[in-house]
Amino acid sequence: MMKSGARAGLVGVAVALAALAVWLAAAPPVWWLNLTRPPVTNPVAVGRALVAEQGCRDCHRVGGQGALVASNLAGVTARLDDAVLRLWLRSPRRAAGGPIAMPAFRLSDGEIVAIIEYLKALDTSE
Ligand code: HEC
Repeated sequence: MMKSGARAGLVGVAVALAALAVWLAAAPPVWWLNLTRPPVTNPVAVGRALVAEQGCRDCHRVGGQGALVASNLAGVTARLDDAVLRLWLRSPRRAAGGPIAMPAFRLSDGEIVAIIEYLKALDTSE
C-alpha cells in the first residue's frame, strides 16, 4: 500500500507532465521547435514549401503571386537585413513595434532561415 504522501507526489508529477505536454503542443517555444522539426537540408525548397503552407500569399505578393493586403515582398531581402527579416518571422509584433495583422508563425530557426533563403533566391533571379 502506497503512503498517501507518496501518492500525492506522483499525482503532482503527472499533473506537471500533462501541463508541459499541453504547453509544448499549444505554444511551442523555439527550443522545442528546433529539437522536433526536421533539419533543413535544402533551404530554398523548404522555404518555398513553407511560404505556400503558411499562407504568406494571403497577404503578400511573393514571386509575383499572392495578395497585396500587405507589402509585395519582391526585393525585400535587399531592403531589410537578415536580423530584421528573422525578427519579422519570429515576432511580427516586435518587428512592427505594436499590434499587426501578420500572425506569429511557429517556425524553427532553420525554417526561418529557409524562408529567407527562398526570398533571397527570388530576389536574385528577378
Ligand atoms: C494576415 C496577413 C499576413 C500574413 C499571412 C503574413 N504577413 Fe507578413 N506582414 C503583414 C503585414 C500587415 C506586414 C507589415 C506591413 C507591410 O509590410 O505591409 C507584414 C510584414 C512582413 C515583412 C516585412 C516587409 C516589409 O516590406 O518591411 C516580411 C518580410 C513579411 N511580412 C514576411 C511574411 C512571410 C514570409 C509570411 C509567411 C510565413 C507572412 N509575412 C505572412 C501581414 C501578413
